[in-house]
Amino acid sequence: MKGRVFSGARPTGRQHIGNYLGAIQNYVSLQDDYECIYCAVDIHALTSLEDTDKLQENIGEMMLDWLAAGLDPERSILFVQSHVPQVMELHTLLSMVTPLSWLTRVATFKEKARMQPDNINYGLVGYPVLMTADIILYKADTVPVGEDQLPHLELAREIVRRFHNLFGPTFPEPQAKLTSTPLILGLDGVNKMSKSYNNHIELAASPEETRERVMAAFTDPARRYRSDPGHPEGCNVYRLHGFYNPERLEELATECRAAGIGCVDCKELLARGINQALQPFRERRAIVAARPGYVEEVLADGARRACVIATETLREVKGKMGLI
Ligand code: TRP
Repeated sequence: MKGRVFSGARPTGRQHIGNYLGAIQNYVSLQDDYECIYCAVDIHALTSLEDTDKLQENIGEMMLDWLAAGLDPERSILFVQSHVPQVMELHTLLSMVTPLSWLTRVATFKEKARMQPDNINYGLVGYPVLMTADIILYKADTVPVGEDQLPHLELAREIVRRFHNLFGPTFPEPQAKLTSTPLILGLDGVNKMSKSYNNHIELAASPEETRERVMAAFTDPARRYRSDPGHPEGCNVYRLHGFYNPERLEELATECRAAGIGCVDCKELLARGINQALQPFRERRAIVAARPGYVEEVLADGARRACVIATETLREVKGKMGLI
């Protein structure tokens, strides 16, 4: 039997090449070997209560990108977390088997608490419990995530084990499946690529905008003049060539070290490589975006299918916990 994958992403709107290389690309290929469930976690997005007026738009834009990138609603379940409200029931039930001390020692909680000291809400503490509910409501065994989510997955397994000790075996212990792609740095060459740093390239950006952004990217900081030899190993533009011009990588490194190619020409080549790679994606996105109501239909169908699994799991859990 095929394993079952579940992953969730906060609906951050239009996705960028960091999202693609780090996650979406992996989601797409897992569809060949697993039964996949992918979710826009809108409830998790509420822990900071920022941009709630943009939430619906952000969900729609992210879904367009997912669909254009190759997530296939015929094969996978694509849905929005809050459309299957059973997850909130399971979250409450799991909260009864989760010691508070497990949650307050989570590094991401401590960091959030430091970042928003005036809004250390109950939901923030329960964030990993809700994430556990996401995964085990669908009895998923495999969870593709970035390294930053490993502590949450560890906690999910601990909650599952504790539930099993109390009520008997019920769920698979979910395992993380790390993507092989290393962290994608943004165009500033320092921070992780992210919309909040404005150092990103949207998948749906126009070729002109992409070129403009790439041309403004930071390169090797030690190379100040065109005649200085460069250090490709410390240059983020060079790293991005690894994804978009892999066949020219060696040549570019040699030319850079010999000051044979300047950063401007090197970036022109990168912009061209990115635009070439994204061309088919952009065409598909335009087609999907031109179908009125299509995304809504996909999400409604996804929620219906997810709801069937969720209802069954919840009945089992309530039975074991003595509620029915
Ligand atoms: N916490 C994850 C993140 O911030 C998002 C998420 C929510 C998730 N529920 C999940 C990831 C379930 C994997 C499985 O990226």
